[in-house]
Amino acid sequence: MATASTVVFKLLAVCHILMLLHVEVNGDLITVNALNRRIARQQVLHDEDSIPGQARQKGLYHSEIRLNFHGPTETSLLRDIGLYDNNAFATLWIVTCLLESHTYGTAPAPDPARLQLAVDAINTFHSRNLPGDAAMDFWPQVYNKTTGVWEQSPENLLQVLHLGENDFPWNTIKKVLLDLGLEKLWKDVETMHELIKDTEHAYRIPPDFDDSFLNLGLGAQLLQLKDSFPLAYQSWASNNTDLQSLQNHLKSYAYRPLSKDNNANTIDPRTYYYMRPFIEKAVKEGDEVALVTTWIQNLAETREMSLAGKGVVMPFYLNNVDVTVAANTLAGITEALLAGLVKPTWFDRELQRIYLNTTAMISWAVTSEAIFTRPDLVMTYYPSLYNFLWYSSRTLFLLQSNQDKIQDYPDCVKDVQQLLTTTFRDHVTPWLVNSAQTEIGSGRFFDDFLGDGDKDILGRPKIHGEDRIFSTAQAVNTLLATWTTFDKTSKKLMWINETRADVKTLVSQAVSWLEKYTLSGRFKTYNAFFSGSTKSVSSLPFLYPANFLQYVNGSTLSPTANLTRGTSFIAGVTGVIDPDEYRKMVDQPHFGYATPTKFDGFNGPETVFPFWSSEPYTYATVMLALAQYDNIV
Ligand SMILES: *[C@@H]1O[C@H](CO)[C@@H](O)[C@H](O)[C@H]1NC(C)=O
Ligand SMILES: *[C@@H]1O[C@H](CO)[C@@H](O)[C@H](O)[C@H]1NC(C)=O
Ligand SMILES: *[C@@H]1O[C@H](CO)[C@@H](O)[C@H](O)[C@H]1NC(C)=O
Ligand SMILES: *[C@@H]1O[C@H](CO)[C@@H](O)[C@H](O)[C@H]1NC(C)=O
Ligand SMILES: *[C@@H]1O[C@H](CO)[C@@H](O)[C@H](O)[C@H]1NC(C)=O
Ligand SMILES: *[C@@H]1O[C@H](CO)[C@@H](O)[C@H](O)[C@H]1NC(C)=O
Repeated sequence: MATASTVVFKLLAVCHILMLLHVEVNGDLITVNALNRRIARQQVLHDEDSIPGQARQKGLYHSEIRLNFHGPTETSLLRDIGLYDNNAFATLWIVTCLLESHTYGTAPAPDPARLQLAVDAINTFHSRNLPGDAAMDFWPQVYNKTTGVWEQSPENLLQVLHLGENDFPWNTIKKVLLDLGLEKLWKDVETMHELIKDTEHAYRIPPDFDDSFLNLGLGAQLLQLKDSFPLAYQSWASNNTDLQSLQNHLKSYAYRPLSKDNNANTIDPRTYYYMRPFIEKAVKEGDEVALVTTWIQNLAETREMSLAGKGVVMPFYLNNVDVTVAANTLAGITEALLAGLVKPTWFDRELQRIYLNTTAMISWAVTSEAIFTRPDLVMTYYPSLYNFLWYSSRTLFLLQSNQDKIQDYPDCVKDVQQLLTTTFRDHVTPWLVNSAQTEIGSGRFFDDFLGDGDKDILGRPKIHGEDRIFSTAQAVNTLLATWTTFDKTSKKLMWINETRADVKTLVSQAVSWLEKYTLSGRFKTYNAFFSGSTKSVSSLPFLYPANFLQYVNGSTLSPTANLTRGTSFIAGVTGVIDPDEYRKMVDQPHFGYATPTKFDGFNGPETVFPFWSSEPYTYATVMLALAQYDNIV
């Protein structure tokens, strides 16, 4: 078994070599085939579960949990310790990128056997607490005999947390770090260990809209490709017979601030905080907005599960609105409608409202710049901005590539296209043009935050660009989704007439940068495709104004109570708070803490959080960018 001390040493050795020798993979110009091989190498071909903390499920692609430590070298090196995680999300995206690289780009069709392995694995993520239902989980499920409930959880993470000294050498790590003079680092490790143990219950989550609608989108793609992959489509379809369930869930669990029903109008106080201008406008106009949430569960159900000791509950007991989940849900709906995977009656008036209102909310989050000022709250679980931009632009691409069909659908589809067109052409594109950085002779690239908050040995800022490959690929994919359409006859992508020359140049320069660096070994291939909702103390929900304070058992909780570790309580916003009243609440402390009105960025001081990263996902997004670029006439 790989002990943590060997991990630490290996890690130091590798970094040493990289820093001193600038090792580069000697390279031919990167090709789609080379990427394909790398992605294939990172699919698990056999179940592996002999080593605690290192279980791997057959068919899934690699992804890891890492910690976003940053700062001096000895601290930032900790980012390189990754713990293998089995989840549906990364694999759903990788498969989606592989299929789209072929459909919209010049990549060869995926290997049917490999695709089948992935689909078989994805099929195991249907929530077993809802037999026959199409709802999906993020993590694998384990049956709890005591409670009779299936619990999904990051098995490897929980196992490592529970490993005693005999199995996991905490004392050895401590000794190694202290011997190296890294007391501060040991404290960080210890803190993180405690923190994660503390929030363990946060990992027994309900099914979610994100995975469920990604899976619906996958079904739509497989339906369109069913002549090439008849078995993959068959097994998907036989595991997803009740698509009506997804429609019901969207309606049941939508956030409706103007509703009178507590289950529909009560939300995470962080959501209310960032979304307030959007909600207040709706209130003024008497517009009963309904928005896609994250969890397929409500307050009453969470309370019941929690009081009965049945594990599966929403983190902090409340639902929230996350623009990334919302974007993926919109894309899943759009793909399913256009492919004819769902009947026109599936898209009823209530669903149309959710579809239009959620698009309006995403558009507002971008144009109001809320996404840039409070990314920690707006992208509640998904810190990568470039990922979010691509996810939302996919709906625009689908609609503008199907202009001939749009009149067959309800008017709201045209409205959604209009909203996204304005958002992406007039706001996102100029933002991307301004955010691109130039490397003379190599092209242009985009950085998000991973590896960009470090210091060198002299204490000077050091930019490592660890998500640069991923962010650059997603920026290209976003620009292509905004400014091209797919022609079904020629199977080519075409620039939209109005595309400005500087946008085309930017895309071509970013593609050049990707070709030079993706397989060069010069940059890490990390991405932050997922995280917990808490990035630091400033994103704890109960530090935000709330008008619904209860213990889980329903007793009232005083806003001045002294919270102790282990108190189970709900702090939410129910209904709509008068704007003047809310402003006063922002100025008041909550449980003794000031409202966190500013965010210092994902590399801010005191900001350390676990994030999920997947190298094959990074490669798959690059493959999509290159294959699509290559397919433009
Ligand atoms: C779901 O698909 C798997 C293969 O991916 C298949 O073995 C299984 O029988 C399917 N389940 C149902 C209920 O059809
Ligand atoms: C099953 O649920 C009970 C009650 O919540 C819990 O105490 C127990 O640890 C769970 N068992 C497993 C194996 O997770
Ligand atoms: C919400 O949807 C309703 C019904 O489709 C529509 O009348 C209203 O304008 C929408 N509001 C927003 C902000 O999208
Ligand atoms: C784009 O420009 C071409 C050539 O000028 C023209 O034929 C075509 O109709 C235009 N397409 C659109 C959608 O305006
Ligand atoms: C509810 O829970 C709180 C905190 O655990 C406790 O103080 C209170 O007595 C409980 N109330 C009831 C009615 O059980
Ligand atoms: C909270 O703790 C402070 C300081 O220990 C104490 O003065 C105060 O009365 C406590 N508040 C409550 C509601 O128990």
